[in-house]
Amino acid sequence: MKKIAIGSDHAGFELKEKIVAHLKSQQYDIKDFGTNSPESCDYNDVAKTVAQQVANHTYDRGILICGTGIGMSIQANKIDGIRAALVHDMFTAKATRLHNDSNVLTMGGRILGEDLAKAITDTWLNTVFSNEARHLRRVKKIES
Ligand code: RB5
Repeated sequence: MKKIAIGSDHAGFELKEKIVAHLKSQQYDIKDFGTNSPESCDYNDVAKTVAQQVANHTYDRGILICGTGIGMSIQANKIDGIRAALVHDMFTAKATRLHNDSNVLTMGGRILGEDLAKAITDTWLNTVFSNEARHLRRVKKIES
């Protein structure tokens, strides 16, 4: 079972709470790194915390939600070893796992409805990296 670290800012708080409940109902081992209210806060801090937990392999995957998902993805991708993918549809939820082996999913709480966000999360968590040579080569090049 994958260990998942999740976090949001205020704009992603409501959706984050729904995704946490959704994943807990599937018995995922999930740790919520906040934020814990709709009070305004900076997405940067939780993005760094969650990304570092994934980069050091304490958690297998990270999920980050802000208003658009953009700030979270920019910030998380500054951490070595992180491949954060901003996803707002089912096609890219699957493609970024198959092709990029993304280890952090970012979503926009002001963009996605609850059902689509849950479906994206499930697809992203359950799709295994293709391990095809060309994709492996490209993923390795991200780090070099
Ligand atoms: C907060 O207003 C908003 O800027 C933030 O949640 C995020 O969308 C930034 O990329």
